[in-house]
Amino acid sequence: MGIDIITPELYETRGFPDDDFRRLRRESPIHWYEDPAQGAPGFWAVTRYDDVVHVSRHPELFSSHARTSMFTELAEDDIALYQLMMLFMDPPQHTRQRMFVNRGFTPRMIKQLEEHIREVAHRLIDEVVTRGECCFVRDIAAPFPLYVICELIGAPMEDREKIFEWSNALVGADDPDYSTSPEDAREVSIQVLEYAHKLAAHRREHPGDDIATSLLEPDSDGKRLSSDEFAMFILLLLIAGNETTRNGASGGMLAFFQHPDQWQRLAGNRALLRTTADEIVRWVSPVNLFRRTALKDTEIRGQRIHAGDKVVIFYSSANRDEDIFADPYTFDIGRDPNPHIGFGGGGPHFCLGTHLARLELNVLFELLLDRMPDIRPAGEARRLRSNFINGIKEMPVRFAPSE
Ligand code: HEM
Repeated sequence: MGIDIITPELYETRGFPDDDFRRLRRESPIHWYEDPAQGAPGFWAVTRYDDVVHVSRHPELFSSHARTSMFTELAEDDIALYQLMMLFMDPPQHTRQRMFVNRGFTPRMIKQLEEHIREVAHRLIDEVVTRGECCFVRDIAAPFPLYVICELIGAPMEDREKIFEWSNALVGADDPDYSTSPEDAREVSIQVLEYAHKLAAHRREHPGDDIATSLLEPDSDGKRLSSDEFAMFILLLLIAGNETTRNGASGGMLAFFQHPDQWQRLAGNRALLRTTADEIVRWVSPVNLFRRTALKDTEIRGQRIHAGDKVVIFYSSANRDEDIFADPYTFDIGRDPNPHIGFGGGGPHFCLGTHLARLELNVLFELLLDRMPDIRPAGEARRLRSNFINGIKEMPVRFAPSE
């Protein structure tokens, strides 16, 4: 069919393969994709909204076990290491753990973090605002969610640099500026797990008012997360909560640069902050795709899928499905309703950090409007070489210096 929806270099140079996604949604929504040149085994590419939701909501048909972001299986060593990670679990094992950690991420718990989130954003802006220029990714978008997570897990300030490096190495995409071999990533994972075990021991002795402390307490049935489960959850937070929000923030900023009318619109009507974060997540789709594996023979949209087949759901394509979104290729910060699935298709793995990510994006853009209202590009944004994360790794910006 002459399409290419996986080559990381193409994502780096042109962003989402919109033309190919449009064609797939129209002509072959459940498409067997095989490209020996890329060395990737075949998989079903699922590109329409309803089908991505269907796959997400039927874990009894489409398993998350040992899935990777990409198309290859996890190595045996990694399966052994990551089997306690919620992202790779199926119900009922997943259900138990998810119920346990949900209580740390309710809207009420997250609301309590707002002041801290505001402080972090102010501090990062303070550090650059007198200069009149900075790299939006390195100076603001990247440290912002990381510092918030450090607070969440009660990691001391002096460990933040180390945690920042770990986090970058863990999501090591196909980008030569970041790339980490699976062995290096495993090594870093082990270091993070050791660190999290120490954190758990410390928090048990010195409880704080952070989420880490609450997750170490028994639930209403008296059950606790084991230390291994706790440590793996910390590792997951570092992977799932960082790169995603970082790229939501930088991709959102870039979207405003490309649509200055929307920046002016928001400046003139702050009430639109209510719908802005969701439009940013739809537009940017920081997570492009996820993988499932069919557990039994089934059908999607009449297409036979065999047990064992790999099924890749493309959130970015679903978020531009013409059957769901009016003018899907328009960045409209007032879009309401906005049933995007940038946080997942609504199944059991639906993003745990949804409320947190929304709050982070809201706070950040509100403060940027206050403190850098004339923020503008000062050079080309450089994209990440990845078909998994829609990322920006460098984005020079300029603004009127102030105190
Ligand atoms: C899962 C997107 C921010 C924690 C996911 C999934 C997506 C996603 C697509 C997988 C859903 C599925 O498989 O059905 C995003 C985006 C974010 C963001 C776009 C920011 C704009 C965060 C934050 C945190 C977080 C801030 C936590 C601090 C998680 C966790 C999971 C997850 C723990 C796994 C849930 C499970 O397996 O049950 N996220 N995420 N995410 N996310 Fe997020």
